[in-house]
Amino acid sequence: MNTHAPKWLDNAIFYEIYPQSFLDTDGDGIGNIRGVTEKLDYIKELGCNAIWLNPCFASPFTDAGYDVADYCRVAERYGTNEDLAALFDAAHQRGMHVILDLVPGHTSVEHPWFKASMQPEKNEMSDRYIWTDSIWESVDCLPCLRGISQRDGSVAVNFFSTQPALNYGFYQPEKPWQQAMDAPGPLATREAMKDVMRFWLQMGCDGFRVDMAGSLVKNDPDGLGTIALWQDFRAFLDKEFPDAAMISEWGEPDKSLLGGFHMDFLLQFGPSHYNDLFRCDEPFFSRRGKGSAKEFIATYNKNVEKTNGKGLICIPSGNHDMDRMARRLDDDEMKIAFAFLLTMPGAPFLYYGDEIGLRHVENLTSVEGGYDRTGARSPMQWTKGLNAGFSSAPCNALYIAQDPNPDRPDVASHMADRTSLWREVQRLIGFRLAHSALQSNGSITFLTDSLPLCYLRRDETETILAVINPAAAPTSVTLDGITPTKLCCTTGASAEADGSTIRIDGATAAFFVV
Ligand code: GLC
Repeated sequence: MNTHAPKWLDNAIFYEIYPQSFLDTDGDGIGNIRGVTEKLDYIKELGCNAIWLNPCFASPFTDAGYDVADYCRVAERYGTNEDLAALFDAAHQRGMHVILDLVPGHTSVEHPWFKASMQPEKNEMSDRYIWTDSIWESVDCLPCLRGISQRDGSVAVNFFSTQPALNYGFYQPEKPWQQAMDAPGPLATREAMKDVMRFWLQMGCDGFRVDMAGSLVKNDPDGLGTIALWQDFRAFLDKEFPDAAMISEWGEPDKSLLGGFHMDFLLQFGPSHYNDLFRCDEPFFSRRGKGSAKEFIATYNKNVEKTNGKGLICIPSGNHDMDRMARRLDDDEMKIAFAFLLTMPGAPFLYYGDEIGLRHVENLTSVEGGYDRTGARSPMQWTKGLNAGFSSAPCNALYIAQDPNPDRPDVASHMADRTSLWREVQRLIGFRLAHSALQSNGSITFLTDSLPLCYLRRDETETILAVINPAAAPTSVTLDGITPTKLCCTTGASAEADGSTIRIDGATAAFFVV
């Protein structure tokens, strides 16, 4: 499928916001939508031009809002639908875009659809979820809930047991209760989800990051059913909202892009080797220089090959499900990691706070289904004031505790320091935005897969060579057939080219025009 991508994705740089933890404008200890609107100029100053907002819909919050109870209503604690519409407008006035988190795979057990579905009498929602025919039969391919209502059946769950799986059908139905993808129940679920998308897109939302996008159709080992399902969503979007951006949490770009997504994430799961770079005992971006990017690059290259260079593969700095990058890398190491992330194809995604090296807060009791993810979700640190400027609530009333360390980083200090991580991220974003070859669609060719890591980014206007040496020791490399002409950006110390040989200092990333 040849998906037309909205033009604005060409140079998009996303900033992911966990709404609970960004800015609390009403002193109740939890962030809100107005807080996001208030900080749009900050995000723009950093250089990001798009936002991904984690779920902000009505929910009992057993999984931080990934358990939706009303897809079309902003959770009261974050504000109102009008606040969200105002955020869309304020972003558009600044030339920015906002995508929401769509959770199509499951709802909360509190969703009215599920409550109706639990009724023993047949009704419009009886087939909205995946029920077996008898309480004594469990759902063999998924975990399930049993004995929760008078309906005689077990119901499949997708993630936590508070998240019953919506019914998009089975690719290969094997049991009488397993419905085909084109049975009336699954088709109705599909249309209901289109209505949800329509609702927000009409209000001004610019697209969706789609949660667990690869998991919708069951008994679908090769993803063929789920791909076909997304192609149907794609046809709907092409017709009604061609400029809506679609980004999948799938991790298999060959499948998701075929399904009509514009971008897919390479994440901590699956065989991406993403964490070899930032989050293992010896990350590639550590100054110790013991890590390896080999497997990551091999997988990345395979993905590029499989997708024929079409569509975008995104490598985020982190997200709400992973350890903070700062858990293993210090600010200087993160500068080099960002020099890589911000010069890769696909739209970069910066997780809020990573621009100041916000730390992973250790030993927190789980909040709202975060478990070991909770430490990566702590409130943003803006200033050295009360609650680091996040909220005027008493410290112990914050919904997640902040980093208690007196030397915790904050935005104001980072912005005031010309050598800070924040300044480096801002400069690197500026560098990316000034060179189309470095943006979403420029091609990439890896020339090495060890130290120093070298790759070419290219489009019809120019070719840029990246030479990245995260290790402390200086090194050099000879790249046959490549003659760098001008050094156009460095992070860390320095580098120089002599013919095809490049010598680079330790902990340095250098970019040359070729
Ligand atoms: C995704 C989300 C994660 C959530 C899960 C279930 O992986 O990123 O936070 O818990 O889906 O919806």
